[in-house]
Amino acid sequence: MDYDVKDLGLAKHGYMRIEWAETSMPVLRLVRKRFAKERPLRGIRIAACLHVTSETANLMQTLQAGGADVRLCASNPLSTQDDVAASLVADDNIPTFSIKGEDNKTYYKHIHSALGHQPTITMDDGADLVSLLHSGRTTHKIIGGTEETTTGVIRLRSMAKKGVLKFPVISVNDADTKHMFDNRYGTGQSTLDGVIRATNRLITGSTVVIAGYGWCGRGIATRAKGLGADVVITEIDPLKALEALMDGYRVMPMEQAALIGDFFITVTGDLKVIRAEHFNAMKDGAIVCNSGHFNVEIDIPALEKLARRRKMVREGVEQFVLANGRRINLLGEGRLVNLAMAEGHPSSVMDMSFANQALSVEFLVKHGRSLKKQVYPVPAVIDKEIARLKLAGMGVKIDKLTKEQEKYLASWEMGT
Ligand code: ADE
Repeated sequence: MDYDVKDLGLAKHGYMRIEWAETSMPVLRLVRKRFAKERPLRGIRIAACLHVTSETANLMQTLQAGGADVRLCASNPLSTQDDVAASLVADDNIPTFSIKGEDNKTYYKHIHSALGHQPTITMDDGADLVSLLHSGRTTHKIIGGTEETTTGVIRLRSMAKKGVLKFPVISVNDADTKHMFDNRYGTGQSTLDGVIRATNRLITGSTVVIAGYGWCGRGIATRAKGLGADVVITEIDPLKALEALMDGYRVMPMEQAALIGDFFITVTGDLKVIRAEHFNAMKDGAIVCNSGHFNVEIDIPALEKLARRRKMVREGVEQFVLANGRRINLLGEGRLVNLAMAEGHPSSVMDMSFANQALSVEFLVKHGRSLKKQVYPVPAVIDKEIARLKLAGMGVKIDKLTKEQEKYLASWEMGT
């Protein structure tokens, strides 16, 4: 079997962690059970470019149980869990191409390898695989794809708008059972987890500057506040800035925030949000990291240029000494801190995200050939069903409308 992982000797440890994740993924477990019985993905070849984690392993096993021939590569050079990659190869016979810390050349070589079986379905987290496919390869066998994250969806919408997208893609990110939980609670907890594991610094009493108040920013702000931080939000969108203000945070431009922050976390999806003028204004010892998809939000080339000296001061923490003598600490090379320095979102939220992925693939197999070359939402029935199953898995019951209430909601005559 074709594969490229760090060390197959890590498989036993990876297997244990995949099993541990499974216990918090009841919705995906139900999907897997049905897939194993019905085999709806028989004959389907899937190329997946995702963060190679214990949760992703559970998704791969689910797709395989459905009959799919799956190949997997990483969607970020620093997010791979090498033990999980080893177990996928050794225990599940899934060709996996990912090594934590791989260089850019290897990263793209691995994406090429994942495409080695001429996929009929693509699965992306950040749209790197789809982008590569659109650079000269034949795509006529592809029924469609799925996309996991906000940044990927933005890229795909731009491709669709310019008329260059060659097959339909389902935006898993836009499902309510994805972004309301994964982006908010998943990013919230795992980002603070990454910062704490990397630095072992006390959050309470510190000022945490969060750039971007989308779903991810909101989640991080809630958790930072819960840990006792004074939270400052920077935004470019007046609506989101207002929301942050009324949620109880201070809002100001990065130029001002740079002067007071102890921690800086970017989650904007845009580039150069923290630049040379901000680094120069920061306090000695400031900690800077990113939890957005790409490592472009912090202007690292500018930081490198400003630095008189640089050295690793802890695992994954690089310190840059500026001309003013102040030390700026960069976490995880400016890559997703929650995956580079911790284990990514907890399994319980990935349960919903990946149930959306699996059911969207099944939907594409059934209906993809009649879709246009556009970006589509996850069908609302799938989204609702995942919420229902998640509640059931948590043992929570909810009310039902009475007949009278249904009638009231359906009528326009009954004002009082
Ligand atoms: N993205 C964020 N957290 C993740 C995880 N645990 N697994 C896969 N993708 C992720």
